[in-house]
Amino acid sequence: MVEKIQQIHQEVLAYVFDENQKAEQFRLAYLSKKGIITELFEVFKTCSVEEKKSLGSVLNQLKREVESKYQEQKEKEEALSDQQHNAEDVTLPVYQFQSGALHPLRIVEDRLLEIFYSLGFDVSEGPEIEDDYHNFGALNFAEDHPARDMQDTFFISGHVLRTHTSSVQIREMEKGNFPLRLVMPGRVYRNEAVSARSNCFFHQIEGLYIDKGVSFADLKQTLYYFVQQFFGEGTKVRFRSSYFPFTEPSAEMDIWAGLDTEENRRLTKGTGWLEVLGCGMVHPNVLKSCNIDPEECSGFAFGMGIDRITMLKYGIADIRDFFVNDVRMLKQFAGI
Ligand code: DAH
Repeated sequence: MVEKIQQIHQEVLAYVFDENQKAEQFRLAYLSKKGIITELFEVFKTCSVEEKKSLGSVLNQLKREVESKYQEQKEKEEALSDQQHNAEDVTLPVYQFQSGALHPLRIVEDRLLEIFYSLGFDVSEGPEIEDDYHNFGALNFAEDHPARDMQDTFFISGHVLRTHTSSVQIREMEKGNFPLRLVMPGRVYRNEAVSARSNCFFHQIEGLYIDKGVSFADLKQTLYYFVQQFFGEGTKVRFRSSYFPFTEPSAEMDIWAGLDTEENRRLTKGTGWLEVLGCGMVHPNVLKSCNIDPEECSGFAFGMGIDRITMLKYGIADIRDFFVNDVRMLKQFAGI
């Protein structure tokens, strides 16, 4: 037995670790359940008391040595693998992946919606292919109103491509859930010549608030708040009286853009005032078309174009640039 222990001791001392003989192989050979050291202890159990006295300490000594050799190697291997992990060549080119960017119109639409959410408005959408009734009739357009003319409207087999998001007002009021406090974004179409400043389709956000006792003061306060949030604290606002078939009284709202730059003068036609939206108190005839009693409920509405204010915000000179899908243009908006 003593010889056997000595022989194994020599063997352990001579054990050289390499790729095929790593700490784990060493542990399996010596320290595992079927390992050599474990077997020696089995044999030891069968020895006489005398033998045990002389062998015990030698055998324990061997076991400690084997364990520490194993431990040492294991730590070495772990340190090496950490090192290899950290030693990746940081000068190698990184894997190039393309990250997407939100379209500028989407960025602006999201911001607009966020402002109205903060005032308690919900969002809703309606169809782009509409019938004459929702796009015109229910909105109090007379039969012979020029907006129904072939010039402005795209007609498709008895339907129209909606010319404004005001049609969604009607769809929502018809549902009969009151009070209503909604913003309704979407694409609209007009049969117009395409140029840097106008397109045959563009984007609007419609607003609608219907309840008992809604007044023009509510409308103005809502829009003042919106302007301060979107265009910045201290932006000057003015309301001009206007006409829309579906509101009475009607107004257009301008913000002060200034006369400092060429761009300002061009956009504001030399006045310094930039037209932002149309608005007004929902016309009693419109309420009646949706089975709302104008004596009981009132409401305000507003509608604004998103494309123009996006062009203003990001200095985009040509409305067509939005839709060429040139990634070089879109990439500029990554992370905004
Ligand atoms: N629908 C109008 C347009 O496309 C904009 C508008 C004006 C919407 C007044 C409204 C409103 O809701 O009250 O020019």
